[in-house]
Amino acid sequence: MTTTHRITLLAGDGIGPEITAVARLLLEAVGRRHGFSLSFNEQPIGGAAIDATGEPLPASTLEACRQADAVLMGSIGAPRYDTLPRDKRPETGLLGLRRGMGLFANLRPVAISPSLIDASTLRREVIEGVDLMVVRELTGGIYFGTPKGRVDAEDGVRAFNTMAYSDHEIDRIARVAFELARQRRGRLCSVDKANVLDVSQLWRERVEAIHLTSFSEISLSHMYVDNAAMQLVRDPRQFDVLLTGNLFGDILSDEAAMLSGSIGMLPSASLGESGPGLFEPIHGSAPDIAGQDKANPLATVLSAAMLLRIGLKEEEAAADLEQAVEQVLAAGYRTADLMAPGCRPLGCMAMGDQLLAAVENSPSAG
Ligand code: IPM
Ligand code: MG
Repeated sequence: MTTTHRITLLAGDGIGPEITAVARLLLEAVGRRHGFSLSFNEQPIGGAAIDATGEPLPASTLEACRQADAVLMGSIGAPRYDTLPRDKRPETGLLGLRRGMGLFANLRPVAISPSLIDASTLRREVIEGVDLMVVRELTGGIYFGTPKGRVDAEDGVRAFNTMAYSDHEIDRIARVAFELARQRRGRLCSVDKANVLDVSQLWRERVEAIHLTSFSEISLSHMYVDNAAMQLVRDPRQFDVLLTGNLFGDILSDEAAMLSGSIGMLPSASLGESGPGLFEPIHGSAPDIAGQDKANPLATVLSAAMLLRIGLKEEEAAADLEQAVEQVLAAGYRTADLMAPGCRPLGCMAMGDQLLAAVENSPSAG
């Protein structure tokens, strides 16, 4: 009997439906090659869910995600929801999903495809061979801290959020990062603002304690976030695993994405202690090009590869997808965000067709 993996598919808003459609076709194709099948349960989230139900994260969507073997998401958000109250905004749906599924560990790998070296705004000598992993804490920090809100004060309006971490929240994300460093090149750089913030001081103490008790063979360094932002563009090859809190990781991972030439290239995995993971590109919903078949589906396809490898333990199928991406790039196919002289421009669906052809023609059937 063939295995059927249950995927909950959250297309979301903007370019989400286009990029997830491509990823779905590819997942089905590698499934056929490697002897498993997939069932897709499509659920609304973000603006699409607000339109359908009035809520950015309907209870039925969260439940379908919890029941799945893995969750694949596109992107959420559109300008027309920007004026809604915070609890009704698309972003609140995504944050609720991360929190509701307990996905505290966000893995954002940044590797530079040899074919895209010249697509980056940085020089070849700086980015050639970059291979780093941002490990971002995803369910705590200033995104979720309380108190937060807006008050009328005597001298005007004040708004505030709280950046807070408890020791166990730091410990569990630090362990994930140390484990990854162990599987990679054995180096971990923890990012904080311990010269100014109390929350960062605890962060640093806990990371040091975990290092000492369980991972003393890993080479650990600490960096202030402002310096880390500079070092990422000055000499990104110095990094192996970067451990960050929620907000710092959000900012640094967009910055790191540009090392690869386009934010349209970066996948991510969000994982909890147990249960299904959520796999999504790190980019947004690109409302300016939505529905025009211009989006770059590669970050979503690479997220599907992470879903296969980490979520479903289908290593060979994951490798097929990654090879397909390398192959189409090497053949000179580019979506608009990556266009370069001498390359061939393709829309989102046509890029999907090339990827499918690359998968079908690859030698490694399971
Ligand atoms: C990301 C995004 C989200 C975040 C938004 C859409 C809430 O920027 O996944 O990086 O800030 O985490
Ligand atoms: Mg972000």
